[in-house]
Amino acid sequence: MHFSAIQRIPGDSILSLMEAYAKDPNPAKFDLGVGVYKDASGLTPVLAAVKQAERYLLDHQASKTYVSGHGDARFGQLLSELVLGKDSPLLNQQRAGATQTPGGTGALRLAGEFIRHCLPGRGIWLSDPTWPIHESIFAEVGLKVGHYPYVGDDNRLHVEAMLQALENIPRGDVLLLHACCHNPTGFDLHHEDWQRVLDLVKRRDLLPLIDFAYQGFGDGLEEDAWGVRLFARELPELLITSSCSKNFGLYRERTGALIACTDDHEKLLDVRSQLAGLARNLWSTPPDHGAAVVATILGTPDLKSLWADEVEQMRSRIAQLRAGLVEALEPHGLAARFAHIGEQRGMFSYTGLSPDQVDRLRDEHSVYMVRSGRANVAGIDASRLDELAKAIARVC
Ligand code: LMR
Repeated sequence: MHFSAIQRIPGDSILSLMEAYAKDPNPAKFDLGVGVYKDASGLTPVLAAVKQAERYLLDHQASKTYVSGHGDARFGQLLSELVLGKDSPLLNQQRAGATQTPGGTGALRLAGEFIRHCLPGRGIWLSDPTWPIHESIFAEVGLKVGHYPYVGDDNRLHVEAMLQALENIPRGDVLLLHACCHNPTGFDLHHEDWQRVLDLVKRRDLLPLIDFAYQGFGDGLEEDAWGVRLFARELPELLITSSCSKNFGLYRERTGALIACTDDHEKLLDVRSQLAGLARNLWSTPPDHGAAVVATILGTPDLKSLWADEVEQMRSRIAQLRAGLVEALEPHGLAARFAHIGEQRGMFSYTGLSPDQVDRLRDEHSVYMVRSGRANVAGIDASRLDELAKAIARVC
């Protein structure tokens, strides 16, 4: 038999939580696993701006022929403006270009392939901890993966340890940074930290790859781009992966882009020719629907402002949930222990709960979260914060 030696492997640590949660018959269950936003009624809504854009496309889209290898040029331009800023000199001078990809994950895969094929011998350095799929994608591509400290056992951001470790990265290697809303910890670099990392990147001639999966979920659409824009202004070359899954709520439409920034237009054309070649072997041409929705929204002033309001509503609801959970832990004497939940940014909180405590939360209270102790705060039902706090208190 051909398949007799094939072994079963465990399911993905994040996605398998979706299935386990769905199977749990307990009506009082909590889904704090996979990073999806839920509204007050527990739904992951289709945004009103998305619905309107879809209606427009239904009436006006004239063809379903392939888009180009880089995807829809209008989507690429508008998304690049959202990421880099409308007046970015990189865009005016045609030194930045987006390649549309199936989600931010597709962009990361394409970046990994680009590094392996076009920058042979370069290793990539990830924060410890990071999103587990960063680890597997770059290992799968065949890159040498290293780690720099980020959050310690005390569940605090360790910028000094990070900077010290970055000093020892081989010159020219690739440094992966999270633009905002660090996944899984929720701890972000402050402006002065970004500046220090930038100085080091320049001095050590590192190539940053900035993963921007949560624009708008931290401090705001513009505010969250601060570090990315600083790097884009100050460095001759940069790679950025951008995801529309969370901020446009387009999860299943798999919409994202790899944005390459170079120091001159001709070099951008060289880089983009390679990216198109690599993408052809991965997915040929990217899926269109989500990108067409994003381009319609960003290209229509009324829709854009409706969408920006919706992002802001999601952002502020998450911030309220963070504050609410810390408050609900107060009567249990745990507010100080979990104060970091209020300080972190974005969907995720590294709670500091141990794998054992996470298992007990699941088995005894039907609370589902990643075993690393990462909770998707955006999945909490605000009307049941006390119940959740009680369950946490029981396992503490
Ligand atoms: C997460 O980390 O939960 C999200 O980014 C979704 C995913 O694909 O893992």
